[in-house]
Amino acid sequence: MTDQFALADASAQFILAGTPLRPKIGLVLGSGLGACADSLADATRVPYSEIPAFPRSTAIGHAGQMVLGKVGDVPVAAMQGRVHQYEGYSAQEVTFPIRVFGRMGIRAVILTNAAGGIDRGYSQGALVLIRDHINLQGTSPLVGTNDDRFGVRFPDMTRAYDRDYRQIAREEAAGLNIPLLEGVYAALLGPSYETPAEIEYLRRIGADLVGMSTVAEVIAARHMEMKVLAISCVTNMAAGILDQPLSHAEVMETGERVKSIFESLLRAILPRLNDLVSRQ
Ligand code: HPA
Repeated sequence: MTDQFALADASAQFILAGTPLRPKIGLVLGSGLGACADSLADATRVPYSEIPAFPRSTAIGHAGQMVLGKVGDVPVAAMQGRVHQYEGYSAQEVTFPIRVFGRMGIRAVILTNAAGGIDRGYSQGALVLIRDHINLQGTSPLVGTNDDRFGVRFPDMTRAYDRDYRQIAREEAAGLNIPLLEGVYAALLGPSYETPAEIEYLRRIGADLVGMSTVAEVIAARHMEMKVLAISCVTNMAAGILDQPLSHAEVMETGERVKSIFESLLRAILPRLNDLVSRQ
């Protein structure tokens, strides 16, 4: 077995060698939301293809680079695009960047994604704070021998989505007049969108949102005791909720439409999270 810990360490050192910044907050920008990292100040951009052992994104709408830069005074490491299990990557591979974040000294991650809205109270373009998740991807990044250097064998997931961080997000959204709803995210493997019957099943088991990412990253982040804030953009209502088919183009268009709202919310949240993380 390859030593993921040593590989993550090597990638972290490689990335940090290119910048004097030492961010404590990592961002993962999902489908259509990657542009939020274009406006970082003092930015250093590292294509995934140059980072040792880093998986490369094949999904359309994912630029595939890590950007280290500043949002105001706050240094951040932002992933413009992520890889997914539906691309053929294992849960371990998908979460390798989170392992790298951890070895870079990142203490908090903000994960974003595009999701289908199951709760009928949502509408296209809504931003939803993830309160909890349901892992239906059939696997976990922690399958296999546990590496105690990353974390414990059986990590607690009761408070996977940090309460204080969610409170901060709600306060900052309210201050900016951005409606921010809250919900439970169900992750499926994809890449086909769900059937209406699957969406009805997900609704009944308590899911408000559905997507193909994020939960493996949350599990890996919690394994390393990084704190998590996760926000979905409802790029479309889930299958069968409205009487219309789903398309990737729609997902990308909605991401494009809300990205400036999303960016202003991130800008407001980041200094407050950074204060908390610095005091930890
Ligand atoms: N289902 C799954 N993943 C998604 C969706 C969806 O409806 N929209 C954006 N990502």
